Amino acid sequence: ERVDGHGGVLLPGFVDLHTHLREPGREDTETIETGSAAAALGGYTAVFAMANTDPVADSAVLTDHVWARGQKVGLVDVHPVGAVTVGLEGTHLAELGAMADGVAQVKMFSDDGKCVHDPLLMRRALEYASGLGVLIAQHAEEPRLTVGAIAHEGPTAARLGLAGWPRSAEESIVARDAILARDAGARVHICHASTAGTVELLRWAKAQGIAITAEVTPHHLLLDDSRLQTYDAVNKVNPPLRESSDCVALRQALVDGVIDCVATDHAPHAEQDKCCEFAQARPGMLGLQTALSVIAATVVGPDGLDWRGVARVLSERPAEIVGLPDQGRPIAVGEPANLTVVDPDAEWTVSRSALASLSANTPFDTMTLPARVVATVLRGRVTALDGQVRYR
Ligand code: DOR
Ligand code: ZN
Ligand code: ZN
Ligand code: ZN
Repeated sequence: ERVDGHGGVLLPGFVDLHTHLREPGREDTETIETGSAAAALGGYTAVFAMANTDPVADSAVLTDHVWARGQKVGLVDVHPVGAVTVGLEGTHLAELGAMADGVAQVKMFSDDGKCVHDPLLMRRALEYASGLGVLIAQHAEEPRLTVGAIAHEGPTAARLGLAGWPRSAEESIVARDAILARDAGARVHICHASTAGTVELLRWAKAQGIAITAEVTPHHLLLDDSRLQTYDAVNKVNPPLRESSDCVALRQALVDGVIDCVATDHAPHAEQDKCCEFAQARPGMLGLQTALSVIAATVVGPDGLDWRGVARVLSERPAEIVGLPDQGRPIAVGEPANLTVVDPDAEWTVSRSALASLSANTPFDTMTLPARVVATVLRGRVTALDGQVRYR
């Protein structure tokens, strides 16, 4: 098939290391099919589906099921992320080996906070993962970690009386897990780095030769805590939007390579879970269809990334981190490829109701953003073209 690229930029297909599809358990907010459509339209050819489904993805039966569903839909490779621990309680390690050896060949494990409370559990998880050659992804976003009611930093949050969600919660876990990974000889990946202090810890850990990698979300690059003034829960996310100085530090770290890649943390939520009191609302934002444009708006430019750099942070580095063999590498002529065509000169206005996700919780609604995905190609087959999904 021939695709008119409209003179755009040809990039390797994007790889998202951090996507929440809600299947199984909350198919009213996103399914593997609707999330795959959003991913294809956003230029992605691989997404890593987080383990915090219901039931939790803590066994090969479930991780293989998620992989098979994604293949059946056929729009994007849906790689399941396995849970490090079993069930919602999460006090015991899961059979990481069985998930790694399954059909899905799980490459990354995460546990949404259980190991945050238990350094011994984290150490054992890292030792197990190290032997298997797989990666542990840490969500260092646990607010209860910090003793007492330290206010969520920043004048805005303090004035608004928002509950504690301090940067010390994130930074202390990043430091702890860097050291645990060093001693376990394991690889650890820091999800959604959100503070300038985390950037400094990553710089330190990498300088020590520790096998640590990190991602930043588009929303933490673009949005700061001034958005919280309205108490609109669309801006509630874990970790929270920080100060504008954090955004600046995160952007620079991405450009410098201290932060390896961009991951969306695409987190669909139902209207009723977002329109209640700020304190009760669920945290999370949509991200798959807006990621490229937010990156273009924040880090692409003369002092930032060129399009080669965009290929690095959206495709090549994430593929390397999880060890996807044929993603983000130069391909021979005639070989089926994963590709994304981007129009760098386009502008578009985000409309929450026009997104492919089953949910509508985008913080970018009504914003006019630069750059747009024109086409996505998965193993030589067009999965999205000019804003339309192409099913097999
Ligand atoms: O805000 C968030 N929501 N951050 C996460 O990492 C989890 C996600 C969710 O599952 O809704
Ligand atoms: Zn907890
Ligand atoms: Zn998280
Ligand atoms: Zn997440």
